[in-house]
Amino acid sequence: GEDPRLQAISQAIRVVPHFPKQGIMFQDITTLLLDHNAFKDAVDIFVDRYRDMDISVVAGVEARGFIFGSSIALGIGAKFAPLCKPGKLPGEVISEKYVLEYGTDCLEMHVGAVQQNERVIIIDDLVATGGTMSAAIRLLGDLHMQALLLR
Ligand code: PRP
Repeated sequence: GEDPRLQAISQAIRVVPHFPKQGIMFQDITTLLLDHNAFKDAVDIFVDRYRDMDISVVAGVEARGFIFGSSIALGIGAKFAPLCKPGKLPGEVISEKYVLEYGTDCLEMHVGAVQQNERVIIIDDLVATGGTMSAAIRLLGDLHMQALLLR
């Protein structure tokens, strides 16, 4: 059956209607972070799932993917690599644009944060349209293709 921890985790996430704009049901994970047991259970579910899968990098999506991703990285003994909004990372980056409801956004990752043949998991707080997660997957896929092209 369903993991008994999921109901308490779900209840610890506050839903805020019409934030940040009309029609959005905002899933506010700050209330989960204030509930130690629910926060720990949310992280542990991913740690239990990935600890023996030879994952060496956790890539976290700005901003709330940093919170869960870094905790999961420590739990499974992996590195943490931030996937950032444009202009936040000081080193050389590779970037991937994605389409929003209005306009586009972009994710960037430091060159060298992930080596070829490393196994990576991508963590974010939630998936809505999937546009952000798709861009993150393409970003890591591009890196792999670059690695192949350099050979
Ligand atoms: C939210 C959320 C995900 C993304 C999911 O981030 O944290 O990253 O939206 O939406 P999607 O599946 O439709 O792409 P947001 O755009 O609010 O950015 P922020 O974390 O910088 O506030």
